[in-house]
Amino acid sequence: MIDPHGGRLVDLVVKGKEKEEFLKEAGGFKKLKLPIYKLRELENIATGLFSPLEGFIGYDDYINIIKDMRLSSGIVWSIPIILPVSEEMFKNVNNRDIITLTDVYGEIYGTIKISDKFQRNKEIEAREIFKTTDESHPGVHKIYTEPDYAIAGKIRLFKRLDYGDLAKYKLDPKETRKLFKRNGWKTVVAFQTRNPIHRAHEYLQKTALEMVDGLFLNPLVGETKKSDIPAKIRMKTYEVILKNYYPKERVLLGVFPANMFYAGPREAIFHAICRKNFGCTHFIVGRDHAGVGNYYGTYDAQKIFEHFKPEEIGITPLKFENAFYCTKCESMATAKTCPHSSEFHIYLSGTKVRKMLSEGKLPPREFMRPEVSRILLRYYAEKKR
Ligand code: ADX
Repeated sequence: MIDPHGGRLVDLVVKGKEKEEFLKEAGGFKKLKLPIYKLRELENIATGLFSPLEGFIGYDDYINIIKDMRLSSGIVWSIPIILPVSEEMFKNVNNRDIITLTDVYGEIYGTIKISDKFQRNKEIEAREIFKTTDESHPGVHKIYTEPDYAIAGKIRLFKRLDYGDLAKYKLDPKETRKLFKRNGWKTVVAFQTRNPIHRAHEYLQKTALEMVDGLFLNPLVGETKKSDIPAKIRMKTYEVILKNYYPKERVLLGVFPANMFYAGPREAIFHAICRKNFGCTHFIVGRDHAGVGNYYGTYDAQKIFEHFKPEEIGITPLKFENAFYCTKCESMATAKTCPHSSEFHIYLSGTKVRKMLSEGKLPPREFMRPEVSRILLRYYAEKKR
């Protein structure tokens, strides 16, 4: 089984008797209310999905990640996982203080033991992480809405988030690792997506499945931008496509409970590392991975892997060119396998698909399986009403 990033799977979920003691104590500490997207990160640190992180990062890590895509220990890490706080909270906390972390209603989820605090430089953060300071970029917009200060330190988690309808697909790295082992999968390819599966996605996954033992279909269900299709609807499309077109015993469906940053290349590294923590050995990186608008080059998210030694990342990226259906080849293809010109290629942009669906039209079956299209059509019709 592949090692977690940094060599050890972090586990900061407090259970049983210890939990009762922690909870009693936690009631007495200063409290910080976290929005849901930060609670999600708290939980992801605690379950080891973000190994080797044991808490929200401090200033040295912040600077190193921004400048060098590494933690101060030298371990590769590309996206800062920060706990932003108001200036008032920033001024009132000191090293070794313990702060109780709650949801917006005051329900206790965990604690953080302060080991650092710092002021963010959002302009540099935006420029280096997102390659733009344009506030219409969703990731940049997000950090500009957050407070300017941050606290850092090791966390503990007492209460798990309720994933509702998605709960049966919410597996911790510990659990996925067990399942891969039980299935006898020595090699597992992970597929990240924030969209319903279309034929190009399916082509990438199945091409990879020709070479490895199992596929971990791992759609992101954390915060996404408004125009992306909600996770609850997308899950239905994943279920229907797996039922109809995939070999059941070679696929595991599980959610990736992280937020979308839209950081393109840097997010591809982050996505790959988290999937290594799940126990995957391979990771699919296609065209414009985790991209948005025109902020990144089509293959930047593939090229960034060359910046590191393979053993520093550990998981192997499987890089795919732009895939499409070719009416001459009568199959899915890429420029690597198809000699025909683009007039024979069927591929639709996200914007075009959304427009078709909102007008009640089914996208061509060469682009999207009709079972998937029909679920989306219903969603758009209901949204209109
Ligand atoms: S992402 O933000 O999660 O990357 P999306 O769900 O569209 O967006 O993509 C999932 C994965 O499929 C990414 O690795 C992306 O690069 C890849 N991908 C999507 N469409 C294509 C395509 N037509 N050809 C090749 N790769 C693609």
